[in-house]
Amino acid sequence: MKDLITKLPKAELHLHIEGSLEPELMFSLAQKNTISLPYKTIEEVKQAYNFTSLQSFLDIYYAGANVLINESDFFDLTWAYLLRCHAQNICHTEIFFDPQTHTSRGIAFKTVIDGITKALQKGEQELGISSFLIMCFLRHLSEENAFETLKASLPFKDKIIGVGLDSSEVGHPPSKFQRLFVECKKVGYKIVAHAGEEGDSSYIWEAINLLQVERIDHGIRCDEDESLVKLLIEKQIPLTVCPLSNVKLRAVKNMQEHNILKLLRQGVLVTVNSDDPAYFGGYVNENYEAICDNLDLSKEELKTLASNSFKASFLSDERKKHFINQISQY
Ligand code: ADE
Ligand code: ZN
Repeated sequence: MKDLITKLPKAELHLHIEGSLEPELMFSLAQKNTISLPYKTIEEVKQAYNFTSLQSFLDIYYAGANVLINESDFFDLTWAYLLRCHAQNICHTEIFFDPQTHTSRGIAFKTVIDGITKALQKGEQELGISSFLIMCFLRHLSEENAFETLKASLPFKDKIIGVGLDSSEVGHPPSKFQRLFVECKKVGYKIVAHAGEEGDSSYIWEAINLLQVERIDHGIRCDEDESLVKLLIEKQIPLTVCPLSNVKLRAVKNMQEHNILKLLRQGVLVTVNSDDPAYFGGYVNENYEAICDNLDLSKEELKTLASNSFKASFLSDERKKHFINQISQY
């Protein structure tokens, strides 16, 4: 299975670029930019990654992002992630970034997006990895702040394929941003949203009905509501599931109890992703390995998951077909 996981071409559809900041790079950027970190050693950083909830992770994740200052920092961060993709046979990636995490510290939108997109271009040219960029709004911040961020994104519209919604879920339902997402749609952005990670199934309903999402990020709490699962199957609305993240943040008790295989067998278009790999102990292949080790997944089901990653992507039908055809030949 491990060999097949490595060899299969895969797409990643749920990756926060700030969540790919490995402790080693965090330390070297902190030193270069003279930012003080609350840790003395890399070992200490790793020990701090002992999360009890989404919020306990977010507090550390936002603190870590403080070391990102210059365009070259965003470039180095993204390039390091792309090298990991290359090593794992990830041929296409759709990357989230959180502009508000940076603009709130006085970093220009342009600095962030130029650094990331220069690395993505190099990744396409030198590694053959295609990519899209998705701008996420932080849902714990105000609607007004999100509207300002949307406005700031407009000069870079050609570099952004869509928008998403992340950060602290409970207490910040999709309805809070309904008006914003209407505007995003007018701009031509594709729409996704985190929903049903810690929030209950009502968050998923709202993301579908009020935000009109094309994909749900996480969505694992859909199985609390049979009619919702039926809708996801009927409309083939993809879920970008992140197994290691779900266990680390205690959205799921342990990997044996993860519902990804159950949803797959019911006909839900589930995909496997890493979310914040530097914090949760693995990139895409480690997420596939974790479910294979703990759930009774067949080789055909593994191939379906890899195919789903392309099917659920924003690639052209032609590119999707190309990869799905490759997978079918294994
Ligand atoms: N930001 C980064 N990772 C996230 C997650 N898993 N949920 C919500 N917001 C996030
Ligand atoms: Zn996420």
